[in-house]
Amino acid sequence: MRPEVTPFRHESSGTWSYVVADPATRRAAVVDPVLDFDPKSGRAAATSAAAIADFVSGNGLTNEWILETHAHADHLSAAQWLRGRIGGRVAIGQGIREVQRTFREILNLEPAFATDGRQFDTLFEDGETFTIGSLAARVIATPGHTSDSLSYLVGDAVFVGDSIFMPDSGTARCDFPGGDAGVLYASIRRLFELPGETRVFVCHDYKAGGREARCETTIAEERAANIHVKEGTSEADFTAMRQKRDATLELPALIYPAVQFNIRGGTAPPAESNGRIYLKLPLSVPDA
Ligand SMILES: [Fe+2]
Repeated sequence: MRPEVTPFRHESSGTWSYVVADPATRRAAVVDPVLDFDPKSGRAAATSAAAIADFVSGNGLTNEWILETHAHADHLSAAQWLRGRIGGRVAIGQGIREVQRTFREILNLEPAFATDGRQFDTLFEDGETFTIGSLAARVIATPGHTSDSLSYLVGDAVFVGDSIFMPDSGTARCDFPGGDAGVLYASIRRLFELPGETRVFVCHDYKAGGREARCETTIAEERAANIHVKEGTSEADFTAMRQKRDATLELPALIYPAVQFNIRGGTAPPAESNGRIYLKLPLSVPDA
């Protein structure tokens, strides 16, 4: 039950995507693939995702799943692009419906925008199991950063999305709509119940202290050394730290483009009457 895990780094967003492969059956899943996006021109490109598709094809893998840990706010998802290239069911947590409802309000999305998650092939709930070839996989709901956040336990590897980062980098922010530091604390306690040798693969790494980018640690290392929430950290201390820190953080540069794209399952909004596609930006202007 030891999957082969190959990381792919998207440098400009600090995101790690993964190909998780079953050595026995050569079946695979892709976790959190990224679409390149230039907000100045509005152009998206699939250079990074093509590297993943080439890896899958080049290694004789059959892709079964494209697993999203949550609706990302810092990058556009390449899920649909990859689905077109290498197949696989696009999955996310059932909590995406709440995220869709929240952002439909915030962004005043078109009446036809569905908030029942139908843009995805599979909506997972906590505890649900599935397979990647002969590998057993289990969904662990880990909300807190967002309300729809999931971790995926595949054999001895857990893909934790934005919950814990590398031990020297701590934890994910909890100040987006639907985020909650106390909820994240409870989610991390659940992850810490996994066996210590469980391999942990993070969704982001921002090279703390100028070190090289890293993507893999273990539950034991996280329990012993996570700078925000190691074994023994109280919920009160964690939430106070998280809230104080979140108050200093700017919004991610791509939050509005990313959310509009990602809550649609990795597809663009409908074209307008001139045939072109636009993204919205909620504007606030000062009173005179
Ligand atoms: Fe995130």
